[in-house]
Amino acid sequence: MKNIVLIGFMGTGKTAVGKILAEKLGFKFVDTDDLIEEEAKMAIYEVFSKYGEEYFRELEKKVVDRVSKLKNLVIATGGGVVVKQENIKNLKKNGVLICLTAEPEVILARTAKDAHRPLVKMADPMKRIKELLVERERGYRQASIIIDASKLSTEEIVSKILEKVYRRELNG
Ligand code: S3P
Repeated sequence: MKNIVLIGFMGTGKTAVGKILAEKLGFKFVDTDDLIEEEAKMAIYEVFSKYGEEYFRELEKKVVDRVSKLKNLVIATGGGVVVKQENIKNLKKNGVLICLTAEPEVILARTAKDAHRPLVKMADPMKRIKELLVERERGYRQASIIIDASKLSTEEIVSKILEKVYRRELNG
């Protein structure tokens, strides 16, 4: 079976879903943000503030390239992984992409108070969220399945994905 790769905007629940999914499938769970922090030896918000977004994206690309070559993984990615088409291409080699979406209001409620998410730490976060959603839409749409996580619990999202895995809808 291919890796399961969770993509989607910040606050859509990729990490929480990924951890449970990995447990149920007997796969290892990896989060590209964690690997970036290990590589950089600092927190993501520090990478952004010290070196800027482009440096972060280069680290992200390196980490994505590395995990894309491994098997039996559930991979949770950062919300901006789709800004580099090369990442999508790499992740698809060994993996099936699942995109979690949520309404901007839900995203705002889940992320606004989080100091660790530099891209929404600004005066008008809602405006920024909407802009980024538009910019990234094409990337997110390249997933094999898209699940609206706005009104679903983590367990419900996991069940939906597992249903598709067991029906082998996600193997191709
Ligand atoms: C980002 C999302 C974050 C993290 C970084 C940039 C983005 O990950 O990679 O702050 O560009 O949307 P989460 O989606 O896990 O919050």
